[in-house]
Amino acid sequence: MERGDNVVSFDAERLNDPCLRVLIASGYATSVAFVRQLDDLELRAMKFETKCVHVGVDKDSSYNSCITPIYPTSTFRWVDLETNKGFDYTRSGNPTRQGLEQSIAALEGGIDCRATSTGMSAITCAMYLFKSGDHIIAGHDIYGGTFRLFSKVLPDYELKFSFVNMSDPANVRAALTPQTKGIWIETPSNPLLNLVDLSAISAIAKEAGAITIADNTFLSPYLQRPFEFGVDVVVHSTTKYLNGHSDVVGGAVVTRHQAHAERIAYVHNALGLACSPFDAWLVLRGIKTLGPRMEAHQRGATAVAKMLAEHPKVEWVYYPGLPTHPHHELAKRQQRGFGAMLSFDIKGGRAQAEKMMMQTKLFQMAESLGGVESLIAYPVTMSHASMTPEARLAAGITEKTIRLSVGIENPDDLVEDLRQALEFA
Ligand SMILES: Cc1ncc(COP(=O)(O)O)c(C=O)c1O
Repeated sequence: MERGDNVVSFDAERLNDPCLRVLIASGYATSVAFVRQLDDLELRAMKFETKCVHVGVDKDSSYNSCITPIYPTSTFRWVDLETNKGFDYTRSGNPTRQGLEQSIAALEGGIDCRATSTGMSAITCAMYLFKSGDHIIAGHDIYGGTFRLFSKVLPDYELKFSFVNMSDPANVRAALTPQTKGIWIETPSNPLLNLVDLSAISAIAKEAGAITIADNTFLSPYLQRPFEFGVDVVVHSTTKYLNGHSDVVGGAVVTRHQAHAERIAYVHNALGLACSPFDAWLVLRGIKTLGPRMEAHQRGATAVAKMLAEHPKVEWVYYPGLPTHPHHELAKRQQRGFGAMLSFDIKGGRAQAEKMMMQTKLFQMAESLGGVESLIAYPVTMSHASMTPEARLAAGITEKTIRLSVGIENPDDLVEDLRQALEFA
């Protein structure tokens, strides 16, 4: 500790240290905090919901706040020419953002995480694990923005992509080439909730010497942890369930191998992809209630899916929680629940979809997902507008398809809202 500091942090055992007591008594140390890092064993013993509340919560040693403060500073003072207190410049690192990164890494079971400005910047960051000439296999029904990056932007930099129906692992095997270095997985897929068998695809990737990257946005680590099935890298749009309140955009790249962690950390800083301390703080706050929120989301989604499945104006419901869903058994194996995203095909076409969507009162017509409020969206003109009509059709997205992000409102109210809106279709 050097002069000028009025804060000292120490372990509980050091409370009896006579020198420290003198410092406190003399006012040299005016504020005292017990900074206890969680050790590995403690972390592993913690249940998920406890981690959500406690991991990455960097206890403030200045005023003993119980939650992580926001450090809205671009730069940090150095102690001397060689040393600083672990941070020098916020693009490279910031205590609030570090708290969020520790939290997400722990929830996913990774060794490192880098929090980014958006989900797309997380995906961009992850693509820097590859080099020009590499070939990457991706699902044909992935998020439209990811499809746009892979089909329109990255090919200019000599990354080659094949889009296949990944629900059948045989299609992935058939698409392998000697240049295949990556497999991009989105499960469940957006918007049709097709599942990808994480273990099967990871095994194929390992044989081929390719990296697997899973976008875990739709379920969050509360409901699915891809690392447990052999996946190498996980990405998130934290805009969705991790934050959960539709008031921030952000992303994260989580790694579990040292070499990947180092490369992602390097690129994250070099390209300047980091999120702001304010945004990091919001996501960290959202994560504390992730478990209870996901349970409430799922209760609503189950009620809505059941009602829609029996409704005469609905042709088909895409929800892995329904026994009619082709991947229901796989969902039970690799997910802890069925999530709260679902889509359905309305009987008729765009006209019927529009009439119905204009009438919902609780379900707001808006893009995005994962917030506490329910949303209703039309993939053709919204989330998947960046796909060509041919690519959309190949993925099974039609003018009948309506996507719901079920919030945490009372399930009865949500069911009633959709029922009354369907009257207009
Ligand atoms: C599955 C999935 N991944 C990534 C993204 C991109 O995230 P962001 O909008 O935060 O850039 C989205 C956005 O909707 C998404 O649904």
